[in-house]
Amino acid sequence: MAARRLTFSRITALAPMVRVGTLPMRLLALDYGADVVYCEELIDIKMVQCRRVVNEVLGTVDFVAPDDRVMFRTCEREKDRVVFQMGTADPDRALAVAQLVEKDVAAVDVNMGCPKEYSTKGGMGAALLSDPAKIEAILRKLVSGVSVPVTCKIRILPSLEETVSLVQRIEKTGVAAVAIHGRFKEERPRHPVHCDHIRAVAQTVSIPIIANGGSLDLVKSYGDIEEFRKATGTSSVMLARAAMWNASVFSSHGPLPVESVMEEYLKYAIRYDNHAFNTKYCLCQMLRDKVESPLGKQVQAAQTNAEISDAYGLQEFYQKTQEQLQARREALQSGSQPDRPVMDGDVTTMAVKFERREYPPHITPKMFLLEWSRKEKLEQPLYETVQRSQDRAFQSTVTVAERKYRSSLWEKSKKFAEQAAAIVCLRVLGIPEGRIGEEESGLVCKRKREREGKTNGAAEEEGNRKRVAAHHQQGTAKNGCTNQR
Ligand SMILES: Cc1cc2nc3c(=O)[nH]c(=O)nc-3n(C[C@H](O)[C@H](O)[C@H](O)COP(=O)(O)O)c2cc1C
Repeated sequence: MAARRLTFSRITALAPMVRVGTLPMRLLALDYGADVVYCEELIDIKMVQCRRVVNEVLGTVDFVAPDDRVMFRTCEREKDRVVFQMGTADPDRALAVAQLVEKDVAAVDVNMGCPKEYSTKGGMGAALLSDPAKIEAILRKLVSGVSVPVTCKIRILPSLEETVSLVQRIEKTGVAAVAIHGRFKEERPRHPVHCDHIRAVAQTVSIPIIANGGSLDLVKSYGDIEEFRKATGTSSVMLARAAMWNASVFSSHGPLPVESVMEEYLKYAIRYDNHAFNTKYCLCQMLRDKVESPLGKQVQAAQTNAEISDAYGLQEFYQKTQEQLQARREALQSGSQPDRPVMDGDVTTMAVKFERREYPPHITPKMFLLEWSRKEKLEQPLYETVQRSQDRAFQSTVTVAERKYRSSLWEKSKKFAEQAAAIVCLRVLGIPEGRIGEEESGLVCKRKREREGKTNGAAEEEGNRKRVAAHHQQGTAKNGCTNQR
C-alpha cells in the first residue's frame, strides 16, 4: 500500500531548531499533539557524506558521518510526520541529500531564513532570499527528483510586495507549502512578529502557508495557537520556542508542568541513546530561569545520560532501558553467526562473547594470553578498541605474533571487548583460556604448578610453539577459517 502523502493544511508543527529538534524532542511533540515535526537544520555538505544505517538495537535508521557521528536519527513512529530540513545553496547536493533520506521521512524542507553568518556566508539560509533564481533551481530540482513533498521556510522581505512576489515564484516550483517566519532578516527573536505580512501572502497563493514567529508574545498555550492562526489568516502554524520551553503546548488538554515534560523528554533521550550533550542542552532550554537551581546545576555538571538520569531520579528507568537494549543486542548477535573462525580482511574473527561467570574469579582470557605470549617470548598482545556510535558498543582487535584476532560480536564495555578478542586468539591457536571446567588446561595446571613451586613447561612450550607456527604457515583456511567477503 502506498504511504500517505503528508499534507500541510490545518497542521500544527514543531519548527526546525538546531540542537533542539533531535529525535527525543520530535517524538515528545508528536505525543502531545503536534501533527508535523521538523528536524534541526542539517547542512547538505555534511549529509551527503553520511551512510544510512539500520540500527536494529534501537529500532532506528541512522545517517552516520564518516567520523561515526550520527547526524540524523529517525524511527518508524515519526516516518509519516517528520520533515527533514536541510541547509543548502546547491541544487545537485540538495537533491543528493533528499534522495538519501526520502525513504525515511515524510517531506524535505529547505531553510531559507537563517540569518546567522555560518549559514549566509555559504550562500545558504537567508542569503537565498536575495537569489530567487537559486531558490527556484533548488526547489525545482527537489520537486522533480524526490517522491515526498518539498517545502521551504523563509523570512519576510523588506517590502510586502517583494515577499508576495517571492512566494508566488516559489509556489510555481511545485512545493507543497511555505513556512513563513514573520520577521525581517535583520530582526531578532525578541522583535514582534509581523502577522499582517504573513496574512497578505496567505491571501495571494493557493498552497498552504505555515505561520511562524508567534512564540514570544502570542502563543503561550494551546488556545493561543488558534488565535495565531486567525491573526495570520493561515491554515497552519509552526512553533519553535514555545515548544522548546514546554512541548505540551501542542496538547489540547492544556499545558503540563515542565517538570513532567522534562522527565518524558529524558525517557526518550535514554531510550534512543541521544547524545548526552544534546540531552543536556535541551533540558537547560526547558529549565529556562531555573538553570541555576540545584537541579539545573546538576544537569549542567552531568557528562552522560546516566548522570542526567540521576538528577531526575530516573536511575531505575535508565538501568532497565540499558538492560533491554543489551538483551536485544545479544539476541541479534547470537542468532547471526556460528562459532567458527571467519576471515574479515586480515583479521581472524569468531562470534564469541566474554561471559564473566564462565571464568574463576581473578582469571581472565587476557591474563592467559599475556602469560602465554611472555612464555613464547612474543611481544605483549596489543589491543585496539573501537566504539560504534549508534549504540556505543565496543569491539576490540588483538595483535599477537603479527596476526590479528577479534570477536565479531560487539560488547557493552571496552574491557569485555578486549576479553572477547583474547578468547578468539586463544581458541584459534588452540590454547587454554582459563574457563571453568576447561579440564587440565595447560596454563591452569601451570599456574597451579608454579604456585606449588614446580616447573615443567618444556613439552607444553613445544606444543604452543607448534600452534603459532601452524597458524602462520598454513594460513587461516587450514585452521578452519572461511573468507567473509
Ligand atoms: C534554538 C533554535 C534553533 C533554531 N534553529 C532553526 C533551524 O535549524 N532552522 C530554521 O529554519 N529555523 C531555526 N530556528 C528558527 C525557528 O524555527 C523559528 O523560525 C523562530 O524561532 C521563530 O519562531 P518562534 O517565535 O515560534 O520561536 C531556530 C530557533 C531556535 C530558538
